Amino acid sequence: MFYGKISGFGSYHPSLKVHNNDLSEFMETDDEWIYSRTGIRNRYISNGENTSDICYKAALDIIENTKIDPLNIDLIIVATVTPDFATPSVACMVQGKIGATNAFAFDISAACSGFIYALSVCEKYMMSGSCKNALVIGGETMSREMDWSDRTTSVLFGDAAAGVLVTKDDKKHILAEDLHSDGTNCLDLYIGNNKIDTPFGKSEEEYQKVYMNGRNVFEFAIRNAPKSISKVLENANLTAEDIAFFVPHQANKRIVDGISKKMKVGIDKFQMNMEEYGNTSGASIPTVLCEMYQKGLIKIDSSDKIVMTGFGAGFTWGTILLEI
Ligand code: ACO
Repeated sequence: MFYGKISGFGSYHPSLKVHNNDLSEFMETDDEWIYSRTGIRNRYISNGENTSDICYKAALDIIENTKIDPLNIDLIIVATVTPDFATPSVACMVQGKIGATNAFAFDISAACSGFIYALSVCEKYMMSGSCKNALVIGGETMSREMDWSDRTTSVLFGDAAAGVLVTKDDKKHILAEDLHSDGTNCLDLYIGNNKIDTPFGKSEEEYQKVYMNGRNVFEFAIRNAPKSISKVLENANLTAEDIAFFVPHQANKRIVDGISKKMKVGIDKFQMNMEEYGNTSGASIPTVLCEMYQKGLIKIDSSDKIVMTGFGAGFTWGTILLEI
C-alpha cells in the first residue's frame, strides 16, 4: 500500500500590502476595530494578477524548492472558490503554465476547508497507486469578489496562494482525517450571484455580491472545529500533548482563541498569520505551513505531528492529523 508524503512547500502573494489604515482612507473603519475583533492588520491584494497567476507562482516556488520536473507531476489539485473562469479550472491553467503535460488536474470548491479536502482527495489517489507526484495548492483572489462598500466583510479577506508537493511513500503520514459538510444554512456565507436570466426564465431571488452572517459563522466554527480535532486525535489514539502544532484556518484570531479555549490547549500551540495575510480562504492553511517550514518549525521526515483544521462556507469543515 502507498500513501502521500508532503515533500516540499511553496507560496506566493501579490506585492501590494494593504494595512488597516489604508482601508480607513476609503471606508468607515479603523485599525483598532479590525485588529481587536479579528487579529488582522495587513493583507496582500492583487492589483491585476488573477487566481491562476498567483497559483502558478506558488507552483513555480514548489518546483524550485523541490526540483521536481513538471513532466513527473501526475496530479494537480487547486482548492479555490475564486477561479478565473467557471471553466477551465485553475488547476488546468496552472498545468498549462508549468508544462505538466502528464498530469490530470481539477479544482475543489470547499471554501476555507478546501486545502484539507484537497489533501484528503490526493491521499486517495496515492493509495490507489495511480499517482506518484501531486501538486496540492490553495489559492484565492478574495479581493476580486469583495463588495468594497461593505466594511463588515471586505476588511477580513486577502489574496495568496500556497501549496505542497505530495509524493508517493510507503509510510502513512495522514494518521487520521475527519471531513464534513452541512448545506442546511448554506447561505449564511456566500460569494457571487450567478442568477438565471435567459430568454427562458429568471431567478426569483436577488442575492448580494458577498454575504456573511458573522455570528452564525462564528458559532459554527467554535462548535465544529474542536469536535473535529478531538475526533482525529481519538481516531489516531493520540492526545493534544502529542501534537507539535495546530494549524487552523486563519478566519480570525477570536475564532482560533475560542477553539484553543474549548480544546483546553494553549494558544501558543496554534499557528497564526492572519495579522499579516488576513483570511485567504483556501490558501490560509498552506500559507501557514509554508511559513512554518521556512522558519524551521516543521521539518520533512521529522515525524512531528501537526493537526490542520479548516472550516468555512458550505458549511464545510475538516481536520487532518499529519505526521510529517
Ligand atoms: N469597521 C468598523 N465598524 C464596523 C466594521 C468595520 N470594518 N464592520 C462592522 N462594523 C460595525 C457594525 O456596523 C456594527 O455597528 P452597529 O452596532 O452600529 O450596527 C458593529 O461594528 C458591530 O458589528 P458586529 O458584526 O456585531 O461585530 P462583531 O463584534 O460581531 O465582529 C466579526 C464582527 C469579526 C466579523 C464577527 O462577527 C466574527 O468574528 N465572525 C466570524 C466570522 C468570520 O470571521 N468570518 C470570516 C470569514 S468566514 C470563514 O473564514 C470561515
